[in-house]
Amino acid sequence: MTRFLQIYDSLSYPQRNSGPPACAPRIGKARSEAYSRPSDSYRVRSRVRHATRASPPLMHTALLARIDAALSVRAPLIAQLAAEETDAYRLFHGSVEGEAGLTIDRYGSALLAQTFHRSLEADAFAAIQAFYAEAFPGLPLILNDRSPANSRIVNALTPEQIEIAQQAREFRELGVRYRFQARHEGQDPWLFLDLRAGRRRVMQEAAGKSVLNVFAYTCGIGIAAARAGARHVVNVDFSESSLAVGKDNARLNDLPIRVRFVKSDAFAALRQLSGLGQPKMVRGKRMPPFPELEPHQFDLVFLDPPRYARSPFGVVDLVKDYPALLKPALLSTAEGGTLICCNNVAQVKRDDWIDQLQRSAAKAGRPIREVEWIEPESDFPSPDGNPPLKIALLRV
Ligand SMILES: C[S@@+](CC[C@H](N)C(=O)[O-])C[C@H]1O[C@@H](n2cnc3c(N)ncnc32)[C@H](O)[C@@H]1O
Repeated sequence: MTRFLQIYDSLSYPQRNSGPPACAPRIGKARSEAYSRPSDSYRVRSRVRHATRASPPLMHTALLARIDAALSVRAPLIAQLAAEETDAYRLFHGSVEGEAGLTIDRYGSALLAQTFHRSLEADAFAAIQAFYAEAFPGLPLILNDRSPANSRIVNALTPEQIEIAQQAREFRELGVRYRFQARHEGQDPWLFLDLRAGRRRVMQEAAGKSVLNVFAYTCGIGIAAARAGARHVVNVDFSESSLAVGKDNARLNDLPIRVRFVKSDAFAALRQLSGLGQPKMVRGKRMPPFPELEPHQFDLVFLDPPRYARSPFGVVDLVKDYPALLKPALLSTAEGGTLICCNNVAQVKRDDWIDQLQRSAAKAGRPIREVEWIEPESDFPSPDGNPPLKIALLRV
């Protein structure tokens, strides 16, 4: 325990105001493979006994042991991340660590538990709270129960809890500062932690490059690219409120360039940038207004669409039709440039997906020359080697 207390510095940050957005949850389906447990079982057992002393329900001992094992196994990663100026990571990834539907994350000075598909009993949550109160003294744990089918947060909080949950906070990832609020008008946290691997890779690639971040959400990729020395960054998303958080994120960082935020449908933006063009009338119907963009090819394009979204401009469907996005994204990428594609649908198999990308790239006349997989980092373990979030870096 002493070791953890040394590692987990709690940080307090200034307060700011909030904004909304929405994005599909990224949790994998429960895996059948057992998660390998750390061998240091004595320390695990002793810490669990201690954590549960104040909260009687012995029936939660197994759950706490899993949470504790997850914390122990992350010790090297957390130490590495602290050295990299990162204080946000997943502490418990229930789908593969023994409690499907439960995730627990640290975002700087707060912890966030989320439940999907089924809620957590009050005494189980109390036991988890007692555990983290000891592991991370001073960091509140907020619960967002998202168990209904639409994944919307349903649990009411007391006025004191609301104040803590709505407190505007900041955290750091790879030296970049981001906003966090456990509760805001949207459902998802403002930064998806499984995409840290993507942001890390973009930061390695970005210096001197022009970068297009499509489906930008709160613009984490774009802000990280700008921070790492990109010469030009454009973020595209149709959600005003998500872009507003992105603008706040940009302001938090001492960025060397002025980052662009374009509120647009992704299809309309990509078709224009790629040179394919976006007609104002389609099949006799006037399209909603969209910002006009000059054709432009970028050195690095990042594409991270939601699982499914329908708009007047097209249908995003990561299971049935990735190529609808791939073609204009490829044509918006400079010859010799890099396109990073994400697919967060767990049931889509990596090999099938890359075959599909390769075939449609060849058909579009922009064959993929090289593929590199970017693996989620070890706080998102994937014992079956098929992580729900697939990130493919394509040299094109
Ligand atoms: C999976 S999130 C993207 C996460 C993001 N790449 C990141 O770094 O966190 C999906 C985003 O796509 C946006 N979106 C969905 N359909 C869209 C469309 N047709 N045009 C533009 N944005 C869209 C949503 O507003 C949401 O912000």
